[in-house]
Amino acid sequence: MTETVLETVGLTKEFDGFVAVNDVDLELTQGEFRGLIGPNGAGKTTVFNLISGLAEPSSGSVRFNGKEITGLDPHEITSRGMALSFQITSIFPELTVRENVLGALHSGEALSNLLSRYGTDETKLDRVDGLLAQVDLDVHVEKQAGELSHGDRKVLELALALANDPDLLLLDEPTAGLSASETDTIKRLLAELRGTVTIILIEHDVDLVMELVERITVLHNGQVLAEGTPDQIQADERVRKIYFRRDH
Ligand SMILES: Nc1ncnc2c1ncn2[C@@H]1O[C@H](COP(=O)(O)OP(=O)(O)OP(=O)(O)O)[C@@H](O)[C@H]1O
Ligand SMILES: [Mg+2]
Repeated sequence: MTETVLETVGLTKEFDGFVAVNDVDLELTQGEFRGLIGPNGAGKTTVFNLISGLAEPSSGSVRFNGKEITGLDPHEITSRGMALSFQITSIFPELTVRENVLGALHSGEALSNLLSRYGTDETKLDRVDGLLAQVDLDVHVEKQAGELSHGDRKVLELALALANDPDLLLLDEPTAGLSASETDTIKRLLAELRGTVTIILIEHDVDLVMELVERITVLHNGQVLAEGTPDQIQADERVRKIYFRRDH
């Protein structure tokens, strides 16, 4: 049986009378990799903010793992297994790569306590080092995070989002500002994650989305314009009009 991880019903957000997100219904099943695309200002980031508790909906509801989470604060939602990456993640540049991931694991605990005792906690360390190996950052574990290249910092942000083994990962433009080879690295890592965690990916690079995901939701003017497989979306005339042929 496929389990629903996330369900939004009639999700709506108004800013001073301007409707940024309008009656959005989304349903994601466990392990699904969903792309969320749409022109600038379509409402994609606002949808993420509503799902993750960073903004409160004007109306509508969000259910996560079968429970209503509408209106809960972001920390509560994170502790229930949702991870939001790339736009709000903070890396501590003066700490090592390993310490950053340890810090994410123990969120809520004083960092100094952590640093004084993490060396004795083999299980946690193994988990952190395993995760860093999974994203190919194992050679950099002892390096200060501030010394990482831009691309490696993005990869570290992904590792931080994965640290607590989330049920749902929200990725807002993970390849923004990256070189072609850095983008390839993120793309490969996301492909490896496919099926292991439910993911919603916002991404401007439509080709990248098409290659990675199984299903795409297209937002336009705050509303769901279309939803379907990459092939269906590519063939959809309404989508082509607003998205692939904006000059027509
Ligand atoms: N806090 C806010 N106050 C007022 N208007 C806002 C606020 N946040 C977003 N908006 C507006 O809502 C609309 C949707 O914005 P949003 O950032 O969700 O779009 P987006 O699809 O993520 O765009 P982009 O592709 O450029 O990141 C835009 O017109 C934006 O100006
Ligand atoms: Mg955005």
